[in-house]
Amino acid sequence: MEMRTPRRRVAIAAGVTLLLLYLLSSSGNIIQGHTDSRLLVERRHQVSKAFDHAWNGYATHCMGHDSIQPVSKTCNDDFGGWGATAIDTLSTAIMMDREEVVLQILHYVSKIDWTKVEGGTMIQVFEVIIRHFAGMISAHDLINGPFDHMAKDPVLRRRLYDQMVRLGDILSCTFNTPSGIPRNWLDPALCVTDDGTTNTVAGVGSLIVEFARLSDITGNPTYAEKARKAESYLLAPVPNEGEPYPGLLGSFVAVENGAMANSKGSWGSLSDSFYEYLLKAYVYDEKTYASYLERWKLAADSTMRFIASHPYGRPDEVFLPYWEDQSRLNAMDSLSWFAGGSYVLGGMVTHNQTLLDFGLMIANAGGHLYNSTATGLGPEFVHWTPDCSDVWGEEHCDATNSVRPSDRSFKLRPEVLETWYYAYRATKHPKYREWAWNMFLAIERVCKTEYGYSAISDVMAPDGGQKLDQQESFVFAEVFKYIYLIHLEVSARRFLRSRCFAVI
Ligand SMILES: *[C@@H]1O[C@H](CO)[C@@H](O)[C@H](O)[C@H]1NC(C)=O
Ligand SMILES: *[C@@H]1O[C@H](CO)[C@@H](O)[C@H](O)[C@H]1NC(C)=O
Repeated sequence: MEMRTPRRRVAIAAGVTLLLLYLLSSSGNIIQGHTDSRLLVERRHQVSKAFDHAWNGYATHCMGHDSIQPVSKTCNDDFGGWGATAIDTLSTAIMMDREEVVLQILHYVSKIDWTKVEGGTMIQVFEVIIRHFAGMISAHDLINGPFDHMAKDPVLRRRLYDQMVRLGDILSCTFNTPSGIPRNWLDPALCVTDDGTTNTVAGVGSLIVEFARLSDITGNPTYAEKARKAESYLLAPVPNEGEPYPGLLGSFVAVENGAMANSKGSWGSLSDSFYEYLLKAYVYDEKTYASYLERWKLAADSTMRFIASHPYGRPDEVFLPYWEDQSRLNAMDSLSWFAGGSYVLGGMVTHNQTLLDFGLMIANAGGHLYNSTATGLGPEFVHWTPDCSDVWGEEHCDATNSVRPSDRSFKLRPEVLETWYYAYRATKHPKYREWAWNMFLAIERVCKTEYGYSAISDVMAPDGGQKLDQQESFVFAEVFKYIYLIHLEVSARRFLRSRCFAVI
């Protein structure tokens, strides 16, 4: 399974929020002022309590470190030691109206020295963009937009702005390559990259939203220009083998000249947020990024035509295989589940019910999968058989066993929640809310520790098997946020008018 690297598509948390705020700024505060049923209030209260529990664990024992290991209570600095969890928490804390947490984090942010890297000299550009950079931009837009009642201290706001721009300048060093394709490892003190020969499609194609936003905030077009230059290679990929189906790429790009370096791809790890950002860049700025939407539509159309797969006996569920050249592998990682939300959003944006319905079939597949395990949580990796052919090796192959976990762990990933969130906003069907709520209850039941929430080893064991002692920053940035927001009532019309759907 060579495709499984630790690369994750988390940008949403921030990319999301930043769009939200930006697009909403003229339409008032949509997060507040709606009518709530008591059930929704109660559920949001429980999510806030879970957030507090995890935040207290981290802030008490590991504030300023990248994460806490929630079983052993040890602190991790795997992204340079710049407090990835704290920064990734900002946008969620703001949306939950937790001003004391917001202030605590902003004070911390104002003191970070971006030239000091804990335990080395290099940082991973992709991770820092989607967690730190996007988190700060989101926070900036939120407190200067719908949440401007928060963190009013002008000095603190100014420091956030300065730190955001400083980090943007440092991250821009990654584009200093012959082609303008960024490299993934950067020495922030010296402004030099490693000498890697390739980067991933996600690493090259998940910069545009943040850098475009920074350009618009600062009035300096250079950031967006650099990100667009990098993206241009993915919009017009060469050679042909690197684009096995129209709009669908391999997963590595040569830094030297921007050529595609392989033909194996997916909607998951290594590529995911490239497809996500094509659409979101367009939502952010329809004029400048019209051609990005065309590429997203091409990828979406090819996926429906050539890639989508139904496990045996499940015609209303769509799973997304890997592709390599023109063959497919019926396996899917948990990151790919975001694709359902991307189709729903794309369907809304382009007024295309076919796209939207396809997204709902992905949402359904995730709902069924989570509901079919002993824990109520979904496995990190699944494979399936579309036809119950011999190789499947089950005596009685039918709809109940045509999907199997191939990695039974659950890493607290948010992607399926993201898809249910969009599906709920588009349809108002209560099942998506119930799925998100069941997931929350399952996380409470099997992942909770004294210091937070831990990844677990086995979704098929009623108690979740072993606790893996990991709690990545996206638990704060996305898991709590989506479960909280899906339990907010916002009228569909108001939602569409505000275009807030684009954001989260
Ligand atoms: C909607 O999207 C589908 C899938 O890409 C496409 O085949 C169809 O032509 C689109 N419909 C409209 C009205 O654009
Ligand atoms: C499956 O869904 C039903 C209905 O929402 C729920 O009662 C049940 O607890 C779920 N099972 C799991 C394992 O999540």
